[in-house]
Amino acid sequence: FLVNDGVTRDTSMIGGADVLNFSSYNYLGMSGHPAVTAAVQDAVARYGSSVSASRLLSGEKTIHAELERELAALLGTEDAITFTSGHATNVTVIGHIVGPEDLIVHDSLAHDSILQGCKLSGATRRPFPHNDFAALDRMLTGIRHLYRRVLVVIEGVYSQDGDIPDLPALIEVKKRHQALLMIDEAHSIGVLGATGGGIGEYFGVDRAEVELWSGTMSKALAGCGGYVAGSAELVRFLKYTTPGFVYSVGITPANAAASLAALRELRAEPALLDRLRTLSRLFLTLAKEAGIDTGDSHDTPVIPCIVGDSMKTLALSNTLLRRGINANPILYPAVPEDKTRLRFFITTCHTEEQIRSTVKILAEELALLRTAG
Ligand SMILES: Cc1ncc(COP(=O)(O)O)c(C=O)c1O
Repeated sequence: FLVNDGVTRDTSMIGGADVLNFSSYNYLGMSGHPAVTAAVQDAVARYGSSVSASRLLSGEKTIHAELERELAALLGTEDAITFTSGHATNVTVIGHIVGPEDLIVHDSLAHDSILQGCKLSGATRRPFPHNDFAALDRMLTGIRHLYRRVLVVIEGVYSQDGDIPDLPALIEVKKRHQALLMIDEAHSIGVLGATGGGIGEYFGVDRAEVELWSGTMSKALAGCGGYVAGSAELVRFLKYTTPGFVYSVGITPANAAASLAALRELRAEPALLDRLRTLSRLFLTLAKEAGIDTGDSHDTPVIPCIVGDSMKTLALSNTLLRRGINANPILYPAVPEDKTRLRFFITTCHTEEQIRSTVKILAEELALLRTAG
């Protein structure tokens, strides 16, 4: 519970001192962007701080539909539905659309929210090895016939490793086995693709091949809340029946306005995506040149520095903080002991100079850690 005061952008204030910040996912710098702040203030003045009811009753505001239209437009789907939390979106939606006679297969690195949704659903749950769709294919060949419905769940960008699954290959597999596909784009919406449309745009797949495009608005979209985008029929079904939507208040005006403004800024300023990519590539290239193990990270602003020892990873994180750099340690059991790491999130707020000096200091401290045994 390290207190980060002020707006978390390239820097944040810890214990009264400004430190370089690589530990938050404000990828496009939309949190703290003047247009986003103004939109939030305006929405609160117009609609108040809460919509004070479920949207199905009297909580519906114009801004909800505007946000959902904008999300659907970015993702290339017919419609979208928003929820008050990204984590709760996965829990309530997965828990709702499959049941005890169904099977959920998910990547072994799936986020906790996906696992909680599986539990709630009562479906049989089987993980498959990370990004190994040949293994998934073999698994489904053996057991598909035992279940009514099969839901495959993956993520667009994996938040510990910064790698991207081979979506076209997965679509082949899911079609072969008549499975539904859900992709959690928490770290890929507003990040991947020419206009920030996510992994679907990155690979140029037909968006209708994926039934549920889900994600959160707390990262690139500077708000708080989750969404599912897909066919108009799916969204209508979810709006009338999903417990976490029907029996929960609508997303707050402030959060709806923040993400709506972020989506509009992104559309007006697509060069932000080039900047994010250039800076991410610079960090990755410099880190590799310095002999740092960055795992499978590529084309994303999530870059791990794998240390492979929890105590050393923690020590490195503390040393960097003393030198004015905040990067979160990811320790066992969040990852296996030989994969513990510092994780760096790159944002458009960073400068080239900040990245160069950070990788230099990181390499120095890693070398000291290694010589110390
Ligand atoms: C893949 C994934 N799904 C869901 C979530 C939950 O989103 P939120 O923090 O906005 O509730 C996260 C957040 O860390 C995530 O990384």
